[in-house]
Amino acid sequence: MSKNENITYKKNNPITAGELISVFSSVGWNKQSKNIVPAFQNSYYVTAYNDNDLIGFARAISDGYYYTNIFDVIVKPAYQKRGIGKEMMRMLREKFKGTYLFLTYTKGNMEFYKKCGFENNDKSMWIHIYRS
Ligand SMILES: CC(C)(COP(=O)(O)OP(=O)(O)OC[C@H]1O[C@@H](n2cnc3c(N)ncnc32)[C@H](O)[C@@H]1OP(=O)(O)O)[C@@H](O)C(=O)NCCC(=O)NCCS
Repeated sequence: MSKNENITYKKNNPITAGELISVFSSVGWNKQSKNIVPAFQNSYYVTAYNDNDLIGFARAISDGYYYTNIFDVIVKPAYQKRGIGKEMMRMLREKFKGTYLFLTYTKGNMEFYKKCGFENNDKSMWIHIYRS
């Protein structure tokens, strides 16, 4: 980490669509800007900043008692491999202690989640119902 960097973490702090889209697009993910802030506001999310610049986030949707699902775990490429993703996952683990935490990993990311304490589970299923 360069001596000019000041990485801090926040929870459910105000965020803008522009900030979120900038992080999504840094890793090639497209999200519709009109939906992204409400989607985060309907989740519990943690964010990482270098000073005032949003450089990463992770979010979860939980019933608060039994089950939690984790989505959108991203660290901007320039800040990856410095423990920022793992720290955000630690914050979500801490928040949702006592629940089962689930996530779906994308190609190449299974080892990262194993380092965050997750085990592989080949019994999950999913479907995406498109709006007509
Ligand atoms: C996946 C991602 C969030 C990891 O964030 P990160 O800040 O780089 O991860 P960390 O530095 O906290 O890594 C924690 C540990 O996992 C390891 N790790 C991280 N990414 C890894 C990968 N792709 N493959 C193997 N190991 C990995 C690190 O070496 C580190 O190991 P250590 O604890 O032994 O030192 C980040 O690479 C990213 O944003 N990728 C693009 C978006 C994406 O694919 N998100 C996940 C969708 S399922």
